Order: sequence, then C-alpha cells, then structure tokens
Amino acid sequence: MPALVVAGNWKMNTTVPEATALAFGVKNGAAAVTGVELVLCPPFVSLSAVKDAVAGSAVKVGAQNMHFQESGAYTGEVSPGMLRGLCDYVILGHSERRQMFGETDESVNSKIKAGQAVGLKPILCVGETLEQREQGKAADVISGQVRAGLDGVTDTSGLIIAYEPIWAIGTGQAATPETAAEIMGGPIFETLRSLFSAAADSISLLYGGSMNASNAGEYAAQDCIHGGLVGGAALQADQFLQVAAAVASAKG
Ligand code: 13P
Repeated sequence: MPALVVAGNWKMNTTVPEATALAFGVKNGAAAVTGVELVLCPPFVSLSAVKDAVAGSAVKVGAQNMHFQESGAYTGEVSPGMLRGLCDYVILGHSERRQMFGETDESVNSKIKAGQAVGLKPILCVGETLEQREQGKAADVISGQVRAGLDGVTDTSGLIIAYEPIWAIGTGQAATPETAAEIMGGPIFETLRSLFSAAADSISLLYGGSMNASNAGEYAAQDCIHGGLVGGAALQADQFLQVAAAVASAKG
C-alpha cells in the first residue's frame, strides 16, 4: 500500500504567530497518530517558523505553490531552490491557482519537474468543475490533468496526487466516498498505471474537499484512497489530528 498522508492546506490563512501556534498544536498531538505522514502547508511567510516549530517531530512541512524558474525577474514569486531546505512537499496545481491565478497544465508540469529536480515532493492537485461533472466529462478532465501534469515525469518516488472536485472545496458538499473512489481508483489510477506501470501502485492518492474528522474514515475505508488534503479542518490542530487518526484507524 502507498504511504498514508494527511496534508493540511492552510491557504491564505494564519499570520506567522498563528501559524506557529497551530504547528505546535499539531506537533504536540502528532505522536498519538501513527502510520500517517502529517504535512503542514502554511503560507510562504510562515514556512520557516513552522519548520522550526515542528523540528524534532515527524511532522513535515509543505509549500502551497512555487515558480518553476530557479531565479530571475519574477516579482512576487518563489523558486524551487528557495524552498529547498525549508520544506519537503509542495502543493502544485491547486484548483484555486488554476482558476484565479492562471495556472495551466503546462505550468503545473514545469513546476512538478522543477520541484523534483531539487528534491521536493509534489502534491499534484486535479479536479473537475460542477459543470464538467454534470456534462459527464469528469473522468476525461481528470485523466487529462494527470497525464498533462505528469508529461515527461519519470520519478514517482514521493509523488502524490490529490483529487479535489472543485464543487466540494470549501462548500461542505463533500463528494461521497464512492464518487471519490470512482475517480481515484478509475481515471486517476488507470492514467498513472499507463504512465508508470507497476510503480503507480506506490503513489499515494489523497481526497480533498470538505474533508473533516467525521467523514475522513469513510474515505480512507476505500482501498484507492490513502489520506487527505484538508483545507478548513486543518486550521484547528485537534480537528486536523482527528482527521489523521480517522485515516489511521480506517486503514489499520
Ligand atoms: P476544504 O477542506 O476547506 O474544502 O479545502 C480543500 C482544499 O482545497 C485543500 O487543498
């Protein structure tokens, strides 16, 4: 089975002091959750503080985005080399970045390669809109995003795919575990298999979209779901830890 991972995407929330406190809260309860990799993804400005806060624990840190160039005249951007040493993971292709900040499959692909080149583990996000789902296009959209995002990628170690249906993000309207599994065990896994053969079997697949302590276990009960990418419920340490505990117990 692939590694179990529960990652918290804090999005544009938490000041540096708030992020530090949240990270300490997670660290303090982390030892009680075994068998699940916990990843905290704060805003860029808090990466260093969160890294320091979780030092000495198994809790890992991730960024929420990154540019693919190493340096240059890209005002406001952060490069792979700048993240190296500050974090282990980087979320790439989140639907909020695709919808609001012009992220494309091509730029996501460049970022995945650039991240891997400096040893960062990419969490590639894919997801369909409600309109695409209603038109029966979800499977095609998702397999297209996976294929394009991973074009030319050969290294699957540390690669994670997060399925986040856009209509389920921040809405309280989570996809049912069966709907999530249909996509994750279907087009996502099949596309990974066609790209990477048996190595696909070791890639962790996370569900994201209104995941919380109450429903996390139901997702993890699905064979093809290996954890979650959690937004709102990751902003409180106890809730985030409960999500991870639910995943651990469903898989245990
Ligand atoms: P919510 O858990 O708030 O729905 O957000 C999910 C998400 O977008 C994580 O990346």
